[in-house]
Amino acid sequence: MSEIEIKKGLAGVTVDYTAISKVNPDTNSLLYRGYPVQELAATQSFESVALLLWNGDLPDAAALAAFEGFERTHRGLDADVKTVIDLLPLESHPMDVVRTAVSVLGAQDAAASDNSPAADLAKAQLLFAKIPAIVAYDQRRRRGQQPVPPRDDLGYAANFLWMTFGEEPADIVVEAFNVSMILYAEHSFNASTFTSRVITSTTSDLYSAVVGAIGALKGALHGGANEAVMHIFDEVGTADNVGPWLDEALAAKRKIMGFGHRVYKKGDSRVPTMKAALDDLVEYYDARDLAALYDTLESEFVARKGIYPNLDYPSGPAYHLIGFDTLTFTPLFVAARIVGWTAHIIEQTAANALIRPLSAYNGPDERHIDGYVASA
Ligand code: ACO
Repeated sequence: MSEIEIKKGLAGVTVDYTAISKVNPDTNSLLYRGYPVQELAATQSFESVALLLWNGDLPDAAALAAFEGFERTHRGLDADVKTVIDLLPLESHPMDVVRTAVSVLGAQDAAASDNSPAADLAKAQLLFAKIPAIVAYDQRRRRGQQPVPPRDDLGYAANFLWMTFGEEPADIVVEAFNVSMILYAEHSFNASTFTSRVITSTTSDLYSAVVGAIGALKGALHGGANEAVMHIFDEVGTADNVGPWLDEALAAKRKIMGFGHRVYKKGDSRVPTMKAALDDLVEYYDARDLAALYDTLESEFVARKGIYPNLDYPSGPAYHLIGFDTLTFTPLFVAARIVGWTAHIIEQTAANALIRPLSAYNGPDERHIDGYVASA
């Protein structure tokens, strides 16, 4: 019998084509539909990048205005969605709240099972508009604050911050948040996107695929790492404590969250852009102690292990400075990645093959129930 080669974690396995994004670990580059993500972050709104990822090209002014109009008029949550959220314990993890609320939106949609490209794009755009309201509503609910209704005179990023904090944000904060949304929007066949493609491959509906993807993103080895980075910062406390803390953590074989990546081994292409946005926030909020802790942990960990930061490392502290609860960080990733997930769902449906890999059995040899006689 020939030896079966097992690819644990599907590491190094190419499972399909995609025209949505290209990750090149050799050059530390990430292209969305051909455009370097750094160029998009420097020049585009998140709304414009969303249209690029869904449609394949950047929108012209009329298409962007039409989508902005749609997004601004669909930002609110209806009473039923709020009622379901309010039924959940205040201690529920916000990822569980977002997952549940998306599930409710799916159950409400009479066209949920229409998997045509136009219907799926409409659902994707609806989720794009509504997820910020879910995230903001839940953070305010946990803080005992009244919800803040959306404002249709603000763009996506500014309105998201308005609904969360009830204050008009400074331009520099809006810009940093917009950059984070663009950087988180898409990253090829990562675990949550692949989950959404697996679910889609059975011809299930878009909402089910997104709910599954949210579940995959929650884990600390994937999206949950931006939340876990902040817990590490809290644990370490100050830059002076980095050395002794790292000695202990590495002796205990702990993973340091926000470092390492399955694909990028020489550094995550998105980090320099997010670090520049974090630097702006550090200056705006005068957060020098946090910046010192960030730099010291990075340089000491890289020096000891040669493992580089991923996007979650700068985005966690950035969201903290903006004022989000640590528990809200991964739902912010959902608000961004909804674009990538839904673009992949539409792409999977267009050229579908059921995703069903094989396994190599290593359980007991065939055996039988004592006294059992097969009937003739
Ligand atoms: N801290 C300490 N050691 C690490 C880290 C880390 N963050 N990352 C990798 N290593 C070590 C592993 O312990 C392993 O060492 P060993 O060979 O001595 O056992 C070696 O590097 C290889 O690591 P794997 O986990 O096998 O590599 P893989 O490609 O499977 O992992 C992963 C990638 C899961 C992201 C890993 O680096 C990790 O757990 N990082 C922390 C979690 C994190 O930040 N996730 C965010 C991912 S990016 C994103 O979602 C935006």
